[in-house]
Amino acid sequence: MNERVSKLLNEQINKEFYSAYLYLDIANFYTKKGLDGFANWYEIQAKEEQDHAMLMYRYLHNNGEQVTLEAIAKPDRTFETLMDPLRAGLEHEQYVTSLINTIYEAAQEVKDFRTTQFLDWFVKEQGEEEKNSMDQITRMELFGDDARSLYMLNSELAARVYSAPSLVL
Ligand code: FEO
Repeated sequence: MNERVSKLLNEQINKEFYSAYLYLDIANFYTKKGLDGFANWYEIQAKEEQDHAMLMYRYLHNNGEQVTLEAIAKPDRTFETLMDPLRAGLEHEQYVTSLINTIYEAAQEVKDFRTTQFLDWFVKEQGEEEKNSMDQITRMELFGDDARSLYMLNSELAARVYSAPSLVL
């Protein structure tokens, strides 16, 4: 594998684990606020991010590449309003999309089509994650100020169940 592509994928493992940590911190915030449904949603999101990291970890190993695990940064966002974590989540997903695109470009430059094909799943996944984040913000804007609506929104998010990623290596 091209050295730069391999390095970027290695770094992405770390970014995905950081994403898991950020989402766990968001779950932590909502738990403290008594919104267990929001917390559930973000706990599951954290699990999905760990899955993303593991897919990259396995992909590198399957291709005979070295995996280097670095320290995971501390989630350093401070949240005050119920909306703050939602905006932080969207911003973060947009950042992750840009990272995936950079790896994709690097793989494309060296005609590493196996890696671009592997990353196709992530490109699609980022589209879904950004949409989910935008939907959460819209719904909070619409209903967040009304206690009864917020209760219903929380109940809806409590129903989310974890399912393993559809990408199998
Ligand atoms: Fe692994 Fe939310 O992107």
